[in-house]
Amino acid sequence: MKVISTISELQSRIKSLNLSPVGFVPTMGALHKGHLSLVERAIPDCPLIIVSIFVNPTQFNDKNDLKNYPRTLDSDLEMLDTVLRQADIVFTPSVEEMYPAEDKRVFRFGNLDNVMEALHRPGHFNGVAQIVSRFFEIIKPDIAIFGLKDFQQLAVIKEMVRQTRDKVKIVGSPIIREADGLAMSSRNMLLEPEIRKNAPIIYKTIKQASSMIREKDIPEIKSFVKGSIENAENFELIYFDIVDELELKPVTKKTKMNAGKKYYGCIAVKAGKIRLIDNIEIGLD
Ligand code: PAJ
Repeated sequence: MKVISTISELQSRIKSLNLSPVGFVPTMGALHKGHLSLVERAIPDCPLIIVSIFVNPTQFNDKNDLKNYPRTLDSDLEMLDTVLRQADIVFTPSVEEMYPAEDKRVFRFGNLDNVMEALHRPGHFNGVAQIVSRFFEIIKPDIAIFGLKDFQQLAVIKEMVRQTRDKVKIVGSPIIREADGLAMSSRNMLLEPEIRKNAPIIYKTIKQASSMIREKDIPEIKSFVKGSIENAENFELIYFDIVDELELKPVTKKTKMNAGKKYYGCIAVKAGKIRLIDNIEIGLD
């Protein structure tokens, strides 16, 4: 693999390699097996893969969160070296390279702007769309892989691509978990030991919620989730919503669920000082 940090070098390398399809995996670094699974998903289809590592300032609505976001470039490169091939590229641009001037673009995502993460992190998805669209313009990938872990982000990116009529194919890839069920996340390394010990309650709770749908209605399931999470010391439920896969509209009653559609239970939890998200498919059958 080759590590490149300027746009001009990246573009001339992509051009001279002349390989297709080009696969793209955007990340903010502090890599774990979840990130690597996205790269592995792209390997059979893409003779050239570009992985970006860039902590994007415009998607952080909390300055402290940006400051504390883990940065582990050396070990990130070591991990990528175990999966990437000779031609593949790791793109590690600076903030100045990606934002030579302030990005003032405003994206609108319809209902996706009015639910879950969008309500709790104003401006977050606008920042994600700014950086991902900029990467798409620079790299012009044929395929881009995103984790289902960030369920709403995946929906936002699909909507952005629909609006811009970009030809890139967006692929969603499954959530990779620790042995105890906690969804892998770069933020997990920020958890205090006691909080980390209790963190598997998040997945355990949503798994139970998904099996409760057969007997119970949604308000009961929601109150079960709140109780189960808040039983753990220093855990606070931010939201738990059952939403459809496409528009992410929260459903309030089981009778409003449509047998032909896919639904997901999406959760956000404040675990000590750290915000964690997870989700699970919830089926009526
Ligand atoms: P980051 O949080 O680094 O995640 C990069 C990609 O890895 C995202 O598509 C995310 O959904 C995926 N991912 C994270 N944890 C995962 C897990 N446990 N299993 C499977 N996939 C997982 O998401 C971002 O960065 C940024 O918003 C970005 C898209 C790079 C734009 O800045």
